[in-house]
Amino acid sequence: MVNRLINRCDIMLFGALGDLAQRKLFPAFYQLERAGLLADDSRILALARQDIDTAAVRKQILEKLEHYVKPEEFDRTVAEAFLQRVEYQILDFHDEDSFNVLNRWRDEKNIESRKDGSTRNGNDLIVYMASPPAMYGVIARNLRSASCCNEKTRVVVEKPIGHDLESSRVINDELGEVYTESQLFRIDHYLGKETVQNLIALRFANNLFASQWDQNHISHVEITVAESVGIEGRWGYFDKAGQIRDMIQNHVLQLLCLIAMDPPSDLSADSIRDEKVKVLKALRAITPAMMESYVVRGQYTAGTSIGKPVPGYLEEEGANKRSTTETFVALKVEIDNWRWSGVPFYIRTGKRLPEKLSQIIIHFKPAPHYIFDPDQKHLANNKLIIRLQPDEGMSLKILTKDQGLHKGMRLRQGPLELTFSEAFEVERIPDAYERLLWEIMKGNQYLFVRRDEVEYAWSWVDQVIRNWTDGGDPPKRYAAGTWGPVASIAMITRDGRSWYEDA
Ligand code: BG6
Repeated sequence: MVNRLINRCDIMLFGALGDLAQRKLFPAFYQLERAGLLADDSRILALARQDIDTAAVRKQILEKLEHYVKPEEFDRTVAEAFLQRVEYQILDFHDEDSFNVLNRWRDEKNIESRKDGSTRNGNDLIVYMASPPAMYGVIARNLRSASCCNEKTRVVVEKPIGHDLESSRVINDELGEVYTESQLFRIDHYLGKETVQNLIALRFANNLFASQWDQNHISHVEITVAESVGIEGRWGYFDKAGQIRDMIQNHVLQLLCLIAMDPPSDLSADSIRDEKVKVLKALRAITPAMMESYVVRGQYTAGTSIGKPVPGYLEEEGANKRSTTETFVALKVEIDNWRWSGVPFYIRTGKRLPEKLSQIIIHFKPAPHYIFDPDQKHLANNKLIIRLQPDEGMSLKILTKDQGLHKGMRLRQGPLELTFSEAFEVERIPDAYERLLWEIMKGNQYLFVRRDEVEYAWSWVDQVIRNWTDGGDPPKRYAAGTWGPVASIAMITRDGRSWYEDA
């Protein structure tokens, strides 16, 4: 039944044999199939340079599905039905003439369906560029030369959109020559995560929080995006990017925007994106003089990760032993506007930290007049902990009286806990890519990043990178399996605060 409500789509997947497609996109499509969320006539044309045939590609995808989909969610019948939607076409992305084959694929399908007596006049076309960003421009131009797209075509691109502001403008200009902004779906997969979406519900559906969400009531905010993994064989890409480009410019700043933005007037893509842009424009620049107290960059050395010894960044396979690329960044961020004046956002993200954990902690100010045991004063502020992963949920730390006759009015801090999977008995929380693909098929842009967001984020990040390049200080060392360089603890302690897990 659901099927009838879903747009029928022809999806051209460029880079279909690459890591992203195999690890994330095909498993996400499979899950949509399993949930009955792919229209009967939707199909995928997998495009890459390798000279193999559809049968071999289907076999390869099946093996990856078996690997990446949890065993309890893997259903061979569904997987095989899904694979019938996939065809493979070898394609040289640089060769304009070879793009004509794409039209033939589209036309053949339409003719076939007309032979069936169906009245449909063509599926929506989605072009998914799961290829290196340097290829976006050439793919777009060749699609245009082959008259392969029309004004309804949706085009999906992945990060990184450039390496800095200037290179991101080049990519955005190239895409903009062929497509309008309303056709472009720039992915930041954090926006597809369940709890990230829930930030909007939490903030704008609960007046309780809406009325407390400013400098009058909040003392500071922490955002931690920690990973226990290292760079997982991606040295070539990662060493040129580093943690600030790989994680802060996109995922972490997006989280910060959702926490800090003003209420949008509705849920439309542009209302939300307009508010996010205002936050990005209000980020205070970090000057060279501020670097020491506002920025910490680190690089992991050998250590222990989840009980196993692991090499340092410079000892990873393929490493340049003299690399000064950072694998950890902590920043103190200030937002120059009425709502957030005087409220620092402490953000940190790193590889080879003790666990995979993404969380946001809102520290509320203490009550204006304190009447309890002076020894317990440090307890006296509420905290809202928003867990993005793992165990998606929220926890509000409130103060109550300790139970028992002899305890008097001793305070105790305890959680009001909401773990989504337990509270709502959800069978499974969909992966970010499932939601993003689903929104792309529906043509809804609100979870995708607009050009100006990308560019404001780059221009803020660029000035930090410029300062540390000019300053010439190498990153500080931290042992794998720890929470980053001690300087990141010093950064927050200097303000009389501590990272949540140290408190
Ligand atoms: C990607 C980064 O965008 O996000 C990776 O390039 C990082 O380096 C990944 O590991 C983290 O995503 P998630 O969803 O696992 O937190």
